[in-house]
Amino acid sequence: MKKSPEKKSGKTASAGSTRLAVAIMAAGKGTRLKSQLPKVLHEVGGNALLEHVIRAALRIVPAKDVYVVVGHEAERVRAAMRHTGVNFVLQAEQRGTGHALMVAQQALAGYDQVIVLSGDAPLITPETISRLRDFHRQEQAAMTLLSAELENPAGYGRVLRKSARSSEVQSIVEEKAASPAQKKMREINSGFYVFSVKELYAHIGQLSTANAHGEYYLTDLAGVLRRARRRVVACKTPHAAEVLGGNTRAELAEIDEKMRLAKCRQLMADGVTLFYPATCVIDADVEIAPDTVIEPYVQLLGKTRIGKDCRVRSYCVIRDCQIADGVLIRPGCVMEGARIGAGALLGPYSHLRPESDIGEGAHVGNFVETKKMKLGKGSKANHLTYLGDAEIGAGVNIGAGTITCNYDGVKKHTTIIADGVFVGSDSTLVAPVRLGKGAYVAAGSCITNDVPEDALAIGRSRQIVKEGWARAKRQKK
Ligand code: UD1
Ligand code: CA
Repeated sequence: MKKSPEKKSGKTASAGSTRLAVAIMAAGKGTRLKSQLPKVLHEVGGNALLEHVIRAALRIVPAKDVYVVVGHEAERVRAAMRHTGVNFVLQAEQRGTGHALMVAQQALAGYDQVIVLSGDAPLITPETISRLRDFHRQEQAAMTLLSAELENPAGYGRVLRKSARSSEVQSIVEEKAASPAQKKMREINSGFYVFSVKELYAHIGQLSTANAHGEYYLTDLAGVLRRARRRVVACKTPHAAEVLGGNTRAELAEIDEKMRLAKCRQLMADGVTLFYPATCVIDADVEIAPDTVIEPYVQLLGKTRIGKDCRVRSYCVIRDCQIADGVLIRPGCVMEGARIGAGALLGPYSHLRPESDIGEGAHVGNFVETKKMKLGKGSKANHLTYLGDAEIGAGVNIGAGTITCNYDGVKKHTTIIADGVFVGSDSTLVAPVRLGKGAYVAAGSCITNDVPEDALAIGRSRQIVKEGWARAKRQKK
């Protein structure tokens, strides 16, 4: 007996006018992680578990139709995901996955169908979700679940079909309640579902808490609907890896590894060379243009963007940086929130802190630290230097050991260095101070006053030479 759960909305109703929502269950504590941080905020591939799931949902429906059920540390989860524009439903007490949907009843009242996703299973793709939705509609089911065959099904609920070849499901049995024979079954419940909203809420009241955890299991709805002679079907995905849940730290590591390898493969397909991809940590949102080479043991994090024909050598950690074309980053650079112009040369061992703006063709060398500064086109700071709160023009040479003394213990001050200035080695520039265009600073100077254009400033005591002094000292012994 097939029964259509679809509620036609209005006279012009068609499959296209079905009102579809996505509910994401994200209220659980994640006891198995032994963490202060709520489970769905743990990161894989550079984003929170829940962020990945929300992004997949947003490829299916607009944000106004996505409902995230939050509970444990609800405010923290809400704050972390507010930027996505989705709705939140509060499950104040977490009494199971079935209960998570009980509390969403009012929010979902205006919809015909709801896709239910797990906030802790971030590998799911929009393609698989759409396939599940289409399968549900073709089968005219009350409940459709996504199943998968896993090598190691331990920990997951098992799907009991009416018969081996039937798409219809008898029930789902949770691992803890499974018999030894059932535990051997490898077809598992992924925790992704589509429901007819009407059928869901007509029967959800029949769930009980008579189980190992004393919770309302959403999975029990399969048996409940089945007994009410409603159609419950399973759609088996060929992409089993997409259903993995991050319940333990080991599972999180496994998901993270899969995600990062997939990211590396995507970059390689797009024309980026990665010599030893398994050693690179590249976040989901990183963009790299073709013919750029990433050497082994590099971390590219956050919203980093790298242009074409660049080379990032080993052991660099780069977060939220904008890097133009043809940049060479030598080994061991640590960079965050910096902008690098085309053809610039960095490292080895440069430390670029937020708001560093390195001009086209500029050089920043070893043990140079920069912060909130601009280095103009073709300027060079090659060794052992701190440049903070500074505006440095084009064609400037900053000698080894130059320090901008930007902090007076209370306030930060700016150092301005105009085009073509030459700063000799071991100079300290006490801000606020300005070096005029083309000026020279003698090596070892402490500069406390502005230097006019084309002038030479010497800010050190004169050298004294005492002839024969050393010999006389030795002879005294
Ligand atoms: C669940 C399924 C299991 C399936 C597995 C797939 C149940 C009873 N079991 O088990 O059949 O194989 O997913 O990954 O559903 N949550 C809430 N409120 C709650 C409890 C949980 O929102 O009161 C959320 C969690 O934050 C999580 C999701 O629901 O994101 C799933 O809960 P979890 O405890 O991880 O279920 P599993 O044990 O993995
Ligand atoms: Ca889970």
